[in-house]
Amino acid sequence: MPSRDNAVTRERLLEMMTAYKSTYLLRAAIELKVFDALANGPCDPDDVAAILRTDPRATRVLLRALAATGLLEVSGEQFTLAPGAAELLVTTSPGYGGGVVKVAASDHEWDAMRDLAEVVRRGGTLLGTGAEAPGFDYWVDFAEHLTFATKPGAEWVAELLGPWAGGREGLTVLDVGCGHGLFGFTLLGRHPGARGWCLDWPNVLEVAARHADRLGVADRVAHLPGDAFEAPLGGPYDVVLLGNVLFQFSQRRATELLRRLAGVLKPGGRVVIVSFTTGDRPPAEDHHAHLLGLLMLGWTAGGEMHSPTAYRKMLATAGLGATEAHERPGFPLRVITGERP
Ligand SMILES: C[S@@+](CC[C@H](N)C(=O)[O-])C[C@H]1O[C@@H](n2cnc3c(N)ncnc32)[C@H](O)[C@@H]1O
Repeated sequence: MPSRDNAVTRERLLEMMTAYKSTYLLRAAIELKVFDALANGPCDPDDVAAILRTDPRATRVLLRALAATGLLEVSGEQFTLAPGAAELLVTTSPGYGGGVVKVAASDHEWDAMRDLAEVVRRGGTLLGTGAEAPGFDYWVDFAEHLTFATKPGAEWVAELLGPWAGGREGLTVLDVGCGHGLFGFTLLGRHPGARGWCLDWPNVLEVAARHADRLGVADRVAHLPGDAFEAPLGGPYDVVLLGNVLFQFSQRRATELLRRLAGVLKPGGRVVIVSFTTGDRPPAEDHHAHLLGLLMLGWTAGGEMHSPTAYRKMLATAGLGATEAHERPGFPLRVITGERP
């Protein structure tokens, strides 16, 4: 029997049915820069409409809905930013996170989820080619805007590898499906003598190059454009990073890729898988990962979320021993490593 807290209620169903309205409200407010308009203090709807050049009546409706969802506060007709909004939603803030809507609340994702029932009937993607093929524009936006887990995840991986990586002379790092490249660049930032190679599709690598410039590591980074299953890999490397890549593939394909990558590791080198995972714990504890799994169903031929146990098995099958799995309470990513004997 479900506990009372887990029971399906009308309220919970209504929340799920209407969640998309909150998503679109947030998207519109970010697009219009409503939070910038309120950054300098309280305003009434007419003031906001004048700043944004929007319709005053429609602006009043929008601002009240934003207050209803807790992104703004209101007293009389004066609207102000709710706590946290100045840091996360004002574009000039160093912690600005509004760009993530271009990923997490994007038309790409919306379109993928729209036909979920048909995807389940057919057993996979309705797209001819999907997320694992070149020219999938979503990955350019993903590389540009990052997610909330990217920077803390990259710092964590660099910390985990810290003492070991520091002991490897002239550390070499291959980041496969690098996207933005931050996992590799953060490691390079901690080890001044290290060099990095970024593998991804050419249009994504253009974005990674801008991040490398911004982070001051561009002179130590080279590009390997192309398909991870076929592109020449160079090497050998001390570290091969695989951030959120393997869940785009079936376990069989992921193991095939791991075998290929194991072949370019130096003796004692490590493959480092950073990933959302599911399967080893109750689904509610991996809520985001399970929802991401639906996207992989809609976007790929055989992709799905794998468990840390499955990753350790895949690494072992690829000939990589001494596997270890790491997690941090409350953090959605897990890190699984395997070492070449
Ligand atoms: C979810 S993103 C991961 C980006 C970054 N590593 C991270 O963890 O945030 C997946 C990346 O894999 C790349 N990718 C997908 N299939 C690929 C393939 N067959 N060859 C090379 N890159 C691929 C995509 O272009 C995308 O940048």
